[in-house]
Amino acid sequence: MLETQLAALREEAITAITAADALEQLEQLRVNYLGKKGQLSQVLRGMGKLSPEERPSIGALANVVKEAIQENLEKKRKDLQEAQIQAQLAVETLDVTMPGVYNHQGRFHPINSTIDRALDIFVGLGYTVATGPEMETDYYNFEALNFLPDHPARDMQDTLYLPDGNLLRTHTSTVQIRYMAENEPPIRIVAPGRVYRRDTVDSTHSAVFHQIEFLAVDEGLTFTDLKGTVKVFLQEMFGEELPVRFRASYFPFTEPSAEVDVQWKGKWLEVMGCGMVDPNVLKAVGYDPEVYTGIAAGLGVERFALVMHEIDDIRRLFNSDLRFLRQF
Ligand code: DAH
Repeated sequence: MLETQLAALREEAITAITAADALEQLEQLRVNYLGKKGQLSQVLRGMGKLSPEERPSIGALANVVKEAIQENLEKKRKDLQEAQIQAQLAVETLDVTMPGVYNHQGRFHPINSTIDRALDIFVGLGYTVATGPEMETDYYNFEALNFLPDHPARDMQDTLYLPDGNLLRTHTSTVQIRYMAENEPPIRIVAPGRVYRRDTVDSTHSAVFHQIEFLAVDEGLTFTDLKGTVKVFLQEMFGEELPVRFRASYFPFTEPSAEVDVQWKGKWLEVMGCGMVDPNVLKAVGYDPEVYTGIAAGLGVERFALVMHEIDDIRRLFNSDLRFLRQF
């Protein structure tokens, strides 16, 4: 009687376990068959009615049935766990052959990267970055910089005047005056910015372009300091020591004045104007020219960008063609 019940229980349990397809379901089956109040316990409760001779063999059979169910549960648990892992892996599989999603990366415009490079060099030499407005008065653009009233640069041919009598600055030398008027020597500034000229646009000219100006005023500064500063700057800018020459020149705001040429790929290139700050300029901002001297220079940013990146036409820097700009 109990034998038949045990055999049927075993049969039923194994069929149910084999059919199970989830771990939770398996746990329910375990409780149902082997738990304290499970079916096996219930069958074994009938053992009390057995004679002492029958008990050992039924007990042994009950153990065999229990072990068989346990074994099947264990095996099924392993199978289901393995299946779960395989399913997880299948979901997480990456197809490395799929085409990627292209993200456009921002880039520095060659004008900005040229300015940044130059500023880094001057900041490394102890200079401070200074800026000024693009709309200026005659005073800051010309008068305080020692341009005589009838200087040709003041002509409408060269300078863009605004209807109210102001003008668009033709150079960053304006920042020299603005900074000196507000600060006492010693000073060392580097001033980047946009400037405007009434120029006909062609491959080397633009009506709007950028300059970088540097100015140092202190006691005892000489032309040697100017030469040394310019040479170090050019060496850092081009990344190697190149032949540099200073040619005598003229600017209203410097005396003496010079043009600087650098030899790059076998050609002499004119890269900046410079000089000792004219005593009249120092006087205009209230500095005593008997005590202080100044060194200054101004350079065209586009000129450097064109040469250093071997660009053939200045207009490419201004027409925002992404096919061009993405090369940098
Ligand atoms: N301002 C001049 C220009 O636009 C460049 C220049 C020359 C600036 C000599 C200077 C300098 O500071 O000393 O052509």
